[in-house]
Amino acid sequence: MKPTTAPPQTYRVKSFGCQMNVYDGERMGELLAERGITPAPEGEEADLVILNTCHIREKAAEKVYSDIGRLVKAGAEAGKQPLIAVAGCVAQAEGEEIMARAPAVSIVVGPQAYHRLPEMLDKAALGERATDTDMPAIAKFDALPARRKRGPSAFLTVQEGCDKFCTYCVVPYTRGAEISRPFSHLVAEARKLVEAGAKEITLLGQNVNAWAGEDDNGRRVGLGGLIRTLAGIDGLARIRYTTSHPNDMDDDLIAAHGEVAKLMPYLHLPVQAGNDRILKAMNRQHTAESYLRLIERFRAMRPDIALSGDFIVGFPGETEAEFADTLSIVDEVRYAACFSFKYSPRPGTPAATMDGQIAPEVMDERLQRLQQRIGHHQYAFNQASVGKRCDVLVERTGRHPGQWLGKSPWLQSVWFEGDYAVGDLVEVKLAEAGPNSLRGLVTHV
Ligand code: SAH
Ligand code: SF4
Ligand code: F3S
Repeated sequence: MKPTTAPPQTYRVKSFGCQMNVYDGERMGELLAERGITPAPEGEEADLVILNTCHIREKAAEKVYSDIGRLVKAGAEAGKQPLIAVAGCVAQAEGEEIMARAPAVSIVVGPQAYHRLPEMLDKAALGERATDTDMPAIAKFDALPARRKRGPSAFLTVQEGCDKFCTYCVVPYTRGAEISRPFSHLVAEARKLVEAGAKEITLLGQNVNAWAGEDDNGRRVGLGGLIRTLAGIDGLARIRYTTSHPNDMDDDLIAAHGEVAKLMPYLHLPVQAGNDRILKAMNRQHTAESYLRLIERFRAMRPDIALSGDFIVGFPGETEAEFADTLSIVDEVRYAACFSFKYSPRPGTPAATMDGQIAPEVMDERLQRLQQRIGHHQYAFNQASVGKRCDVLVERTGRHPGQWLGKSPWLQSVWFEGDYAVGDLVEVKLAEAGPNSLRGLVTHV
C-alpha cells in the first residue's frame, strides 16, 4: 500500500462529450463541495482533477491518455502531483485498461456510480486505487446533494441510457439501459434550480423523449406532461430538451410545442443519414421519409421552430449516391444548426466489423461538403430572423464593455449593448445576422 496522501482541498472537473457529462460534472462538484473541497481558482493547479470523459468517437476516447500525461508533466513541474480521477464513458468502457495503462490514475468511476466518489476519495487518501463502474442509476440521483447556484441556464437529467443499439454507437454500453427519473424528483429538482436562480432549464437524456413516469395523481405521463408541469413553476421562463429520438416522439410532446409558451421553439432531432439503406444498416428503425413527416408535424404545430440534427458521414458501405441523400435531407429540412461527424469505428459495436469501411480521405471530403451545406442553411436561418423581436436570456458579458451575450428562443447567440446583468431576459429586435451569431437592438427603452 502507498503512503497516506493528504485529502484534496481543491478540485477541477474537465467534462468532455455531451451535456449529460456537463450535468454529471456539476453534480460531482456539488458532492465535493459537501466535503469542503472547493473549485481550484482560475490558473492554479487543483489537488484533485476529474477527467469526465467521452467514448463516442476514437479521438474523444484517446484524449484521456494525453490529458493524463499532461497532468503528470504539469505535476512534476509544480513539484506536486494531483490526484487524478477518470469519470464518464471512457471510465465505464475501459476502466481496467485505464488502471493498467495509467498508473497516475487513482480513481476510475463510471457515469452511474459517481455518487460514491467520496468513499473512493477516502480510499485514495490511504494510497489505494479504486474502480467503480456499477450501474445503479436511480440510487445515484437519490444519493446526490441539493443543487447549488449556477448560471441562468441549467441542465436537468431526466432520463439516462439507451436501448436503441444503433450499430455504430457505444452509448448503450457506457450508459446502460434506458431509465426515467421519477416525476416528483424532477419537479423538486427543477424548483431547486429555479430557487437557485435558473431562468431556463434544459431537460437532458440520451433519449430524452423516451422519458415516462407517473404524475402526482398517478397518471402515466410522457415528456410533454412533465414539461406542462414544469411550465407551472414561477420564475422559470424557458424550457428546452435534448436529445430526442424520432421513434420516441408522441402526440402530446408535439402538441406541447403549440401550447406551452415556455417551451422554446427548438428541436434537436438527429437523423444521422438521408438514405434508407444506410439508416437500416445503422439500425435506426426509421426512414428518411418518416423522419421528414415527423418534422412536418412539428412545423404545423409551431411554424417558427428551429431544427437541429446530428449526421454521420462515411458509415461502412456508404456510396457517393447514398451520401448525396444526406445532402438532400439537409436541404429539405433547412436546419438552423447541426453537428456532423466522420464515422468512427468503436470497439464492440457491430458496425466496426462491417465490410466496406470508408477511406479517411473520402470521409474528409464528404464531411467538408456536408458542413458547407449545413453552414449555408444556418446562415440563411439567421438572416431570415433579422427583423424579428424576441427575448434574449443574458448568459455572459461580451468582448467589449457594455456588451452582453445571450440566446434567442431559437438558440442563436445574440449580442447587444446596454445596462443589464447576467440572467436578465431582454427584448431585442434582431438587427443583423452573421453565420454564427446575431446583433440585437434594444428598442423598448
Ligand atoms: N442519442 C442521441 C445521440 C447520442 S451520441 C441520438 O440518437 O440522436 C451523439 C452523436 O454522436 C450521434 O447523434 C451521432 O451523430 C454521433 N456518433 C455516435 N456514434 C458515432 C460514431 N461511432 N462515429 C461517429 N459519430 C458518432
Ligand atoms: Fe447511440 Fe442510437 Fe442510442 Fe443515440 S439512439 S445513443 S445514436 S444507440
Ligand atoms: Fe460521450 Fe458518453 Fe455523452 S460517450 S456523448 S459522454 S453519453
